[in-house]
Amino acid sequence: MPDSKPGAARQRIDALVALLERHNRLYYLDDAPEVSDAEYDRLLRELGGLEAAHPELVRADSPTKRVGGPTAEGFEPFSHRVPMLSLDNAMDEEELRSFDERVRRELGREDESIAYACEPKLDGAAVELVYEDGVLTVGATRGDGRVGEDVTANLKHCQSIPLALKDDDVAVPPHVSVRGEVALPMKGFERLNARRAKRDQELFVNPRNAAAGSLRQLHDIDLERLRALDFRAYQIGEGRPDAAASQSSTLDLLRRWGFVVSPESSVCVGIDAVIAYHEKLLSGREKMWIEIDGTVVKVDLHEHQAELGALSRAPRWAIAYKFPPQQEHTVVRAIEVQVGRTGALTPVAKLEPVFVGGVTVSNASLHNQDEIDRKDVRVGDTVVIQRAGDVIPQIVAVVAGKRKKGARKWRIPKKCPVCRTEAVRLPDEVVIRCPNRDCPAQIKNDLRHMASRGALDIEGLGEKLVEQLVDSGAVVRPSDIFRLDAEALTDLERMGRKSAENLVVSLENAKTTTLARFLISLGIRDVGEGVASLLATRFGDLAPLMESSAPELEAIEGVGPTIAESIATFFADERNRKEVAALVELGVNWPKAKPVVKAEGPLTGKTFVLTGGLTTMTRAEAKERITGLGGKVSSTVSKKTAYVVAGQDPGSKLAKARELKLEILDEAAFDALLENPPDP
Ligand code: IVH
Repeated sequence: MPDSKPGAARQRIDALVALLERHNRLYYLDDAPEVSDAEYDRLLRELGGLEAAHPELVRADSPTKRVGGPTAEGFEPFSHRVPMLSLDNAMDEEELRSFDERVRRELGREDESIAYACEPKLDGAAVELVYEDGVLTVGATRGDGRVGEDVTANLKHCQSIPLALKDDDVAVPPHVSVRGEVALPMKGFERLNARRAKRDQELFVNPRNAAAGSLRQLHDIDLERLRALDFRAYQIGEGRPDAAASQSSTLDLLRRWGFVVSPESSVCVGIDAVIAYHEKLLSGREKMWIEIDGTVVKVDLHEHQAELGALSRAPRWAIAYKFPPQQEHTVVRAIEVQVGRTGALTPVAKLEPVFVGGVTVSNASLHNQDEIDRKDVRVGDTVVIQRAGDVIPQIVAVVAGKRKKGARKWRIPKKCPVCRTEAVRLPDEVVIRCPNRDCPAQIKNDLRHMASRGALDIEGLGEKLVEQLVDSGAVVRPSDIFRLDAEALTDLERMGRKSAENLVVSLENAKTTTLARFLISLGIRDVGEGVASLLATRFGDLAPLMESSAPELEAIEGVGPTIAESIATFFADERNRKEVAALVELGVNWPKAKPVVKAEGPLTGKTFVLTGGLTTMTRAEAKERITGLGGKVSSTVSKKTAYVVAGQDPGSKLAKARELKLEILDEAAFDALLENPPDP
């Protein structure tokens, strides 16, 4: 920071030290952090940057010199005979490469590739285990790196911590200390939080805080929580036998003594291999049963480690190459209620935009009142946002310490926010619904659905236009869309003559459809593509379907009781019958077919799996064609699959098909098969 003046820098350094101290306490002592790890790292780096620019201003008590946090009262202090250090972070490839350059330079091996031991960075709590004559005598937390807390009694319940070590060809030394991470596997974390929610206890923000909290239980110790913990060893603190001359051989030895070490650990020669390792680890991150937040890269040879040495906070022979953060903290600006197609009122948190897991997040669904109660989210709260992989961003928990005074519990309004109708909650449902079928919000959703690609596919009827049409009163029921002519459309604001004419053409085109698509367009609950095409084949036309009772529908293979009930209820409703009649009246039509009780045809007995997009037809149409010829469509590839149809950007199903050596059809081959099916 070359442009910072000493005066301003001193002030900022003091402020950062105070801030970091406070966050250290919250993190290590209270297990209730108020900022995300990413934010903490940013503050620490800012301080480090200022200190590098102004060495004269470095404070003796600077958090950059310290590891971890102070110790809590209640546990006996335990002094680590060899300090437990922390790790420096590399946030991107560039920082990792400069670490490697520095290592090579300092070892005088500029032109060589260094062997690095790479391990997952486990997101838990570091502990040291002391064994005297092979028997566990003390287990302690890291604390500030020099003095931790003696949590032996609690640690002994952790199943993967050996109480006694097994001698190997390398004997266990009379005094040895082993270091590693205590972590709570994801499953255990979820179970623990579910239980806490039931008991109205504050939720843990992440598995790491839950693990640290479990270790620090002083009273009414919950054994189940301790037994759920997992320990993985990664270092010998004191008493390392000479035979363990590298990190990789240390891990081997630890394994033979009876510890669990990360099975993903591996030696990578050269920094490019390290980067490849890191990327592989990152892509498998979701599947790990324990949370990891990066790769720990360690110079493998202890001899080299000793040569490189350590600073007060961290060794110079290792670095933590971090994954992009998946959790961030942000503020809930408001909670809004959205009305869904079926009238469901869904609370949505409007957030201070925050960059997490690679995207900017400004909304997060809160699902329903039960969910809000469980997490106790209030307007103005600071919350933890998580976005892992492709998963929709979600609010994990509220940061309790940051709640503003006077923040009120949030309750879903009793009335629909759009039409003000009294909302209802059906006895066995968690959602609250607006029962008003004329609610403009519901009509908009119905219309959007009707226009969508899998339904009538009305080109040009986009979001804005739907809003305009319903708000202006031009459309009261979805079928009204087919009553509009170019004149009426041109009356709308911002609608030119040409666009109006184009829309009229696409409305005309949309009228000619298939029975399956028409059924989808009606938005009957539980009736998606699969069921719609099943019904279309089975009934051939709409009238017989409309007259079927729930038990009759249930008798059809592939239609369960819930679906049957939804269909029967839908068509029993006078209002829906009128809407269907109106659509037909206005010209919506489809080719009628003979009902097929059990489609027999050239493809009978053949199961198809579709993967990737097709260009000449939609998925629904493809299914219809297949079932029309007697074939079946399944979503999972198995040995019983006859054909896998691979369109554009096929998914993992294609790989599976190759593995099983199944017949794979590209789009052209699929078309040809439909045109010219084989003789049965
Ligand atoms: S080695 C001097 N290896 O990360 C070496 N640490 O940010 C320090 N951690 O305090 C420890 N996985 O709690 C090491 N495979 C691993 C690790 C690991 C997680 C933690 C450990 C450490 C912290 C530093």
